[in-house]
Amino acid sequence: MPLEPRDRLIVALDVPSVKAAEAMVTKLGASVSFYKIGYQLALADGLPFAAGLIAAGKQVFLDLKLHDIGNTVAKGVESVAQMGATFLTVHGFPLTMKAAVEGKRGSTLKILAVTVLTSYDDSDLASAGYRLGVADLVAQRAAQARDLGIDGLVCSPEEASDLRGIVGGNMALVTPGIRPAGSAAGDQKRIMTPSKAIAAGADYLVVGRPIVEAADPKASAEAIIAEIAAAHR
Ligand code: C5P
Repeated sequence: MPLEPRDRLIVALDVPSVKAAEAMVTKLGASVSFYKIGYQLALADGLPFAAGLIAAGKQVFLDLKLHDIGNTVAKGVESVAQMGATFLTVHGFPLTMKAAVEGKRGSTLKILAVTVLTSYDDSDLASAGYRLGVADLVAQRAAQARDLGIDGLVCSPEEASDLRGIVGGNMALVTPGIRPAGSAAGDQKRIMTPSKAIAAGADYLVVGRPIVEAADPKASAEAIIAEIAAAHR
């Protein structure tokens, strides 16, 4: 079943406190159905807050980028699955991805792999001891994610069309680095507008500052949803 345009927008709740998160969720109201919670909020009492969002009918993406020994990853993923989250990120290391798939078994949780962090370049990988550059490592890990039964990938919109060729139509591609025309890039280096990202093959768009720092966050979210809907057709 095709996704509704509204359900393809994931708002990154990159705010310092549950109080600030609650205020933003109230402002966005029925306009936004899906929220991403990362370290900042998760480690500031954000997990009970996330459970409350789920109880209120919202979808939650926990961006925790797990990576540890297999048993620890699998148990952590089990806990997230019990919470009722929709998406959880893990690093795209094969043993970590395998453990995450085991941990979510029997639940509705979907595991997203981060292939290579988009802030890394070839020299960062070389100094960490990797033989491959970013493009080759992204392609290798995407193929491994597909073969291990991972549900989707977090990727830059620029990578989306190449990755679609590797993973096929069944895996979700989730892209941050989205900037509506005319909005500030912030620290994002490789950005794309919502319609271009959808055209490139993204299933879900993660948007933080263009919404949470807007003078009117609800209007900003609605404008992006309208752009997704237009690109969708
Ligand atoms: O504010 P902005 O729209 O740039 O927020 C994007 C969100 O996506 C942030 O929460 C950021 O941590 C996350 N993200 C990213 N690039 C990645 C992975 C996650 O920007 N490669």
